[in-house]
Amino acid sequence: MSKRDFLSVLDFSPEDVHSVLSRAAELKRGGISQALAGKSVAMLFEKPSLRTRVSFDVGVQQLGGHAIYLGRDEVGLGGRESISDVARVLSRYVDAIVARTYAHSTLEELAAYASVPVINALSDVEHPCQALGDLLTIEERLGKLAGVTIAFIGDGNNVAASLALAAASVGANLVIASPEGYELPHELIRQAQGLASVSGATVRQVRDAEDATTGCDVLYTDVWVSMGQESKTEERLLDFQGYQVTHQLMENSAPGAIFMHPLPAHQGEEVSAGMLEHPQSAVFDQAENRLHAQKAVMEKVIAERQG
Ligand code: CP
Ligand code: NVA
Repeated sequence: MSKRDFLSVLDFSPEDVHSVLSRAAELKRGGISQALAGKSVAMLFEKPSLRTRVSFDVGVQQLGGHAIYLGRDEVGLGGRESISDVARVLSRYVDAIVARTYAHSTLEELAAYASVPVINALSDVEHPCQALGDLLTIEERLGKLAGVTIAFIGDGNNVAASLALAAASVGANLVIASPEGYELPHELIRQAQGLASVSGATVRQVRDAEDATTGCDVLYTDVWVSMGQESKTEERLLDFQGYQVTHQLMENSAPGAIFMHPLPAHQGEEVSAGMLEHPQSAVFDQAENRLHAQKAVMEKVIAERQG
């Protein structure tokens, strides 16, 4: 039986992205699905989580399935037991593995040895489920994706990487402003530009936050210190000075622009106080939309498996 993993936005064609978004919107409007009836999903998490853990757990239940949470200390992935053995054993019990890892290579190894689909619930390289929930939010709030300009301010991290690929695949422009040394990887920019050349979008890297936000439709930021980078906190907080998203940057955006953040947020660091509550903030819709987007992803990769 062939299987389909979702480790990167690149695992979905632009058509897949569009179909997941429209299915997610349908599910959000109250669409009922029992696509996972009788199926079990293992949720293997090396890092903490609120949104991803709860939205996957609830999403599996709403699709009629059963989710099993496995934290870092329970499994000892790569310590107590090798990644390849964990993947092969879990495949004998469950119908899919949702995994949050440090190294992206851990996800790739899980996928290589598992006979069931593996879904990326965040790695150090990508956060593709976040990007799909983000596009759903943008489409809902702004009524379209093609031609919309997203300004991402800050670290060229996992969230920025998946957002760049997802935006480029649906024709949304992305401009990212990062300090020197924190840009998106060159290869990722090249991949996003490849998708953008087909969809008609643009992907640009700039240095200045104000420059990036001028006239943008979406003002997006994420933490300066991602999970696993805690030892570099002091250095990072200094390097990102000048990249805080403030009310002033919001005013520099297009009228009707929205503010987005994947959460958790750190007020006084990447966002000034009050930004989450700003009238143009979409952050809690964005958090909710993880649920709907992931249900559509699970239908696609778990329930639509080819026999
Ligand atoms: N945005 C997001 O993935 O949040 P959690 O880390 O709480 O899952
Ligand atoms: N970039 C952040 C996102 C958290 C949802 C991290 O990896 O910690």
